[in-house]
Amino acid sequence: MEHSKQELGKVDQISDSYDNNKEALIQILLDIQNEYRWLSRAIVTRVSEKLGITLNHIYNITTFYKHFSLLPKGRHTITVCLGTACHVRGAVNLLDRVSDCLGVGPEQTTADEKFSLSTVNCLGCCAIGPVVAVDKDYYGKVAPVKIKEVLKSYD
Ligand code: FES
Repeated sequence: MEHSKQELGKVDQISDSYDNNKEALIQILLDIQNEYRWLSRAIVTRVSEKLGITLNHIYNITTFYKHFSLLPKGRHTITVCLGTACHVRGAVNLLDRVSDCLGVGPEQTTADEKFSLSTVNCLGCCAIGPVVAVDKDYYGKVAPVKIKEVLKSYD
């Protein structure tokens, strides 16, 4: 799942658009992650070369900020809420069902890079728990048997 040299053209474009300015490192990394969904070793190495910043410094930044991902991310992010209100309404069963459907556990991505699965402690809509979010779509009172149907609606 590593990016080849040919796939790194956008990295150069984004870095160039900031005049390869070291001070813009975080914004450059954010833009690159928006494009590629994650920061592979090849990407980080290319940014290091373009900006003249050590790999070590870039990894310090990317591991400090939770927003950055050094592992492949799917096109869609599924977030299962495991907060108290959702937990008492069967969130653990729901997570098991989602995991079974995808064949991956929390914080993992499917082999086809379609879905990444994560958990959270509250999505802010406890009254409709258990809640699952797919990207920005929220599904409340989700019965585990319905989850396959929900996932099918995403390309
Ligand atoms: S506890 Fe699940 S949305 Fe708040």
